[in-house]
Amino acid sequence: MPLTRALVALLVLAAASAALADEPAFQPARIVSRFEAPQEPAGGAGPASLQRANLQNSDPGLHMWSEFFWPVKPEAGKKQKTTIWVINRRDKVIPAGTIVSIWANKTEQPKCGETGDVNYKLPELLPLQTKAIKASWKMPETTGKAKVAIFLDSACTVFNEFYWFNTVIWSTTVVEAGTKYAFLQASKGPDWIESYDFEPKFPPGNSTSKANIRVFNLGTAPTEAGVKMGVYYDLSAIPDNVTSDCTYPGQISVDLPKIAPGKTKVVPVEGIKVPNRNDANYLALYVYMDVTCKLSPAPNPGYFSSGARISSGPGAVLASLQPKGQRYYPVKTTPKTPKANETMTVKVKIANLGDADGVVGRVVIFTTAVDATDAVHYDIGRCDPSLPSLYNGLTFSANTTDLVIKAGKSKTVKITDVPVPATAGWFGLVAVPDADCINEVERSLHWLPVPYNAFEVVAP
Ligand SMILES: *[C@@H]1O[C@H](CO)[C@@H](O)[C@H](O)[C@H]1NC(C)=O
Ligand SMILES: *[C@@H]1O[C@H](CO)[C@@H](O)[C@H](O)[C@H]1NC(C)=O
Ligand SMILES: *[C@@H]1O[C@H](CO)[C@@H](O)[C@H](O)[C@H]1NC(C)=O
Ligand SMILES: *[C@@H]1O[C@H](CO)[C@@H](O)[C@H](O)[C@H]1NC(C)=O
Ligand SMILES: *[C@@H]1O[C@H](CO)[C@@H](O)[C@H](O)[C@H]1NC(C)=O
Repeated sequence: MPLTRALVALLVLAAASAALADEPAFQPARIVSRFEAPQEPAGGAGPASLQRANLQNSDPGLHMWSEFFWPVKPEAGKKQKTTIWVINRRDKVIPAGTIVSIWANKTEQPKCGETGDVNYKLPELLPLQTKAIKASWKMPETTGKAKVAIFLDSACTVFNEFYWFNTVIWSTTVVEAGTKYAFLQASKGPDWIESYDFEPKFPPGNSTSKANIRVFNLGTAPTEAGVKMGVYYDLSAIPDNVTSDCTYPGQISVDLPKIAPGKTKVVPVEGIKVPNRNDANYLALYVYMDVTCKLSPAPNPGYFSSGARISSGPGAVLASLQPKGQRYYPVKTTPKTPKANETMTVKVKIANLGDADGVVGRVVIFTTAVDATDAVHYDIGRCDPSLPSLYNGLTFSANTTDLVIKAGKSKTVKITDVPVPATAGWFGLVAVPDADCINEVERSLHWLPVPYNAFEVVAP
């Protein structure tokens, strides 16, 4: 999976502290998934990586990512909070009891078996299952520098050894309790790869589209109405000093509503000019907060980017939608644990994410390694009639069907007599709807995700 490897990215992301007049600097931080694409536009205005995953390391198969930590400047004796998501990407069930430990001020690398200030026990995690932890930890009673540490599998029961990329340590500054400020940050939410927050979801080239941006107040005071968010859809239009000059409203300037501390609001951004498809197949948005410096002497140093695949025009797009908080898709087998070498029925909930009705066409099903499932959409040629040629896994192709799914709707499609792999164990199961791209627009969409899940094969 060479392309996926290329996407493996940062462990911790914190905004580069640009020239902010007041100290301590705002340092919005969150745990970034190893599978999230890095976001670094020109000009060095973007978030800097504190640690990078070493791609040569063996993959422990248990990963975490998080929302931004709130408040951005932790208060002495008070709690800092976030939501941490943990996914099992192994081909084995991880039994209940994996511990996530957090320290509010840990100056040394934590070791296996050390207990944190707070410790969360994960339930059993099936392959590809994600669990959310609502975490909070109490900061020291004194102000000054502190190092917050989060260690996934601190008892080392999953890995039996220390894996540095499951540990995240970052420096923060504890401020006096009661310090009031508002600080806005755009947030992606839990969906770090697919951000279907555009309308239409796949904007046609040379059109005008709309995006919905989640704006999070990481501060301790509400914002006043009228703080401005600057949005750029053209990277070359971002001024070099965008994070130090208060006179750049952005290609699109949006008045933000009042947002309470610790709360998020979804803000519509209209009038985004989508590049012509001859120039780009991906639309990137760069978002800066408080561009007219209403909240602080300089715009926020942090920016956020989101993107959409640019389509060749309106039309049907057959894909699938992930259940809330999960990375897998609704793909199921009957029986639930089929026997090796027998046959099974595969049920896949196919969604039409486009804006015209579309046929399901031919559905290709193949089995692969559990940790390869989220990568296949980078590797397969979606409209290749010999699909999937790249994978040696078991492949099955269902007859083309005339079944139509209306725009914006879903249907569960049942495919019978699918052969089961010859060995017992956990496998990835991928279903490619409309494998021949009868719906022409699918042909134009780069890396369109395909539905996948994991399933267990038992010995006969
Ligand atoms: C964090 O721990 C270090 C080392 O013990 C100490 O010097 C520092 O004052 C602590 N930070 C806070 C905010 O208490
Ligand atoms: C893009 O759209 C504009 C306005 O609708 C049109 O004038 C122009 O010819 C289009 N450009 C291309 C390359 O299609
Ligand atoms: C930002 O750059 C522009 C153009 O070079 C310049 O006119 C302006 O003074 C700069 N602003 C700051 C705050 O340095
Ligand atoms: C496909 O259709 C043909 C002809 O109707 C039929 O013989 C065959 O069993 C079908 N295959 C599947 C996998 O449904
Ligand atoms: C499935 O069939 C193959 C080929 O006949 C055989 O080698 C393999 O042992 C079978 N698997 C199981 C689990 O019986």
